[in-house]
Formats: sequence, C-alpha cells, structure tokens
Amino acid sequence: MARIAVVAGDGIGTEVTAQAQKVIEAVLPGTEFNDYDLGARFYNRTKEVLPQAIQDELARHDAILLGAIGDPSVPPGVLERGLLLKLRFDFDQYVNLRPSKLWPGTTSPLAGVKPGEIDMVVVREGVEGLYVGAGGVLHKDTPAEIATEESLNTRFGVERVIRDAFARAQRRDRQHLTLVHKTNVLTKAGGLWARAFAAVAAEFPEVTTEYQHIDAASMFMVSNPQRYDVVVTDNLFGDILTDIAAAVTGGIGMAASGSVNPERKYPSTFEPVHGSAPDIAGQGIADPAAAILSASLLLEHLGHHDEARRVSEAVAADVASRTPGAPQRTAEVGDRIAAAL
Ligand code: IPM
Ligand code: MN
Repeated sequence: MARIAVVAGDGIGTEVTAQAQKVIEAVLPGTEFNDYDLGARFYNRTKEVLPQAIQDELARHDAILLGAIGDPSVPPGVLERGLLLKLRFDFDQYVNLRPSKLWPGTTSPLAGVKPGEIDMVVVREGVEGLYVGAGGVLHKDTPAEIATEESLNTRFGVERVIRDAFARAQRRDRQHLTLVHKTNVLTKAGGLWARAFAAVAAEFPEVTTEYQHIDAASMFMVSNPQRYDVVVTDNLFGDILTDIAAAVTGGIGMAASGSVNPERKYPSTFEPVHGSAPDIAGQGIADPAAAILSASLLLEHLGHHDEARRVSEAVAADVASRTPGAPQRTAEVGDRIAAAL
C-alpha cells in the first residue's frame, strides 16, 4: 500500500489538498496518509522550517502531496529555500515535471487557440543550474559591491534529465523533444547541454528533436505553443518558461507539477503550481483542479497508470461540464470528482 506524506501547508493549500487526498482515496482505497504541519504557521510557531527529524520521516514515504507554502507573515525566501528547494535538492528531485494542456472548458488568452491544441510537458532540470546558490557578494552595500551567481551543470546531471525527457517524448504520440538553452551566449553550460542532448538522442531514434534559444522559445511559447510536445531545459529557463506555458493554457488554475526522483530512491513531491492565495483562503472557493491533477501525476509516478488516467479524465470532464465563470465550492468539486470515479 502506498504511504503518502501530506504537507498541505498554508492558505488554500489545506483546502485543495483535502480534495486531492479524497480523490486518491477513491481510486486507491487503503492508501496511508500522514499529515505534516509545515509552512508559515509552523515556522511562525517554532522558527524552524524543516526539522531534520521531520525530513527523515518524510523520506520514509513513497511520495509527498503538497498544497501550497507561504504567507505574507514570513520573509520571502525563507520557506522557498528552506522547504521547497530543500526537498528538491535533498531528495534528488532532478526532474521537475510541468505538463501544460489547454483543457476543454478552459480558455487560452491567445485568440483562436482551441482546447486540445496545446498539450506539452516541460521537463525542467530541478537540482542544478543557478538554483544551487553558488557565488558570493563582495563589498556589500558599498558602491563597489560585486555579486556573482554561478550556474552549476554536471554532465551526469544534465544527461540524466535529458534522458528522462527523451523517454517521456518516446511514450507520447508526437514523439518530439525540444532542447531550450542559450548556447550562443552561455557557451560553457550550453555546450555541455548540447553535447549531452546529441549523445542521448542517438539512444532514441524515434524521437524527432529541435533546439531553440530561450528567448526564441519564450516568443514561440506565446505565438505558437501548439508546436511543443516535450521540452527539456535547465532550472531557471524552465522556471520562467513554465509560467508562460501555464499562462497560455489559461493560467495556474489547472497547472500541476511534480518534483520527481525517477528512481524512487527518495520521495517525489507533487503540488499545484498556484500558491497559498491568502486573499481567498478559508472561504472554500479555491478550485482544487490543479491539486487533483497533481495527485494524478503522483499516481502515475507510483505506477498506478490506470488510476492516474481516470483521475485526470475525471478532472477534465468536471471542468468541461461547468458553466463558464460560475463560482465553484472547493469541497463540492472534490466530492463530484471522487464520486465520478
Ligand atoms: C516554482 C517556484 C519556485 C522556483 C520558487 C518558489 C522557489 O517559482 O516552483 O516554479 O523558483 O522553482
Ligand atoms: Mn516558478
């Protein structure tokens, strides 16, 4: 039986995560859920972000279902670095999986783009690049201040995330993979990415490939997102590109993500891309669709392919059946989707 750690977190995180849990229970009865109270409330009470003892307990789960972390009462960066990024790094979640799909019943801000036309997955490298925190500051707060921020790229780290992206592309209908980087300027890291990409491509002859610079890709992501199937890129480019991908598919309402350790040596974290939304927290009006789609990614990761597909189809059907613009009650959406399963 799967053991899932639940970090519902702050704001609407608790509300939407309860629905995701409800849906997992509907398709996998008997799943063990253990709640961990982390996030802003925990930090404000204890002044700790992630005690080692709790992290050790989290490590003994198959996956982590996360809601949303953050509150204006906590200085920016504390929970991001201390919890979200710490889990990514310590649990070697090197595949940051971000599917973007224009679902029936949702609208793209792009004129003339119809549901079904955008269907892509960005595989963002999760544990290297500019996120490692390398670099330093000299002469702080003087006119001579110098700040460096270094991007770490290892052949091992780059090759494994590229291989994962190729494998995903191979399993999809269009079997197309785009590498996004900035090899014309970032020649050192870009060269490593390009060479690793070419080497791994030889293992996947069925997958067609393409290379784009990040600036061009950002433009195409808006002008013609239909062209993308699977995209692989580094940590920071992927951070930015996936916000654009979410925007063109109707915003963060349906955006799910997974920070994945594919080998399952450590638990992977699954969470909606949206935040804790303190402005609407506690009212029971947050849409749990993205959280439930994240639960579908979790099921897929644990090998429950049929259950994963049923859950994402149930979310799609629910969203398609709604009256556009009609307010939704969080628990009612969860009940409807769980009942449909
Ligand atoms: C994301 C977020 C995080 C990131 C922040 C909160 C650290 O923007 O998951 O995309 O930059 O990776
Ligand atoms: Mn981001």
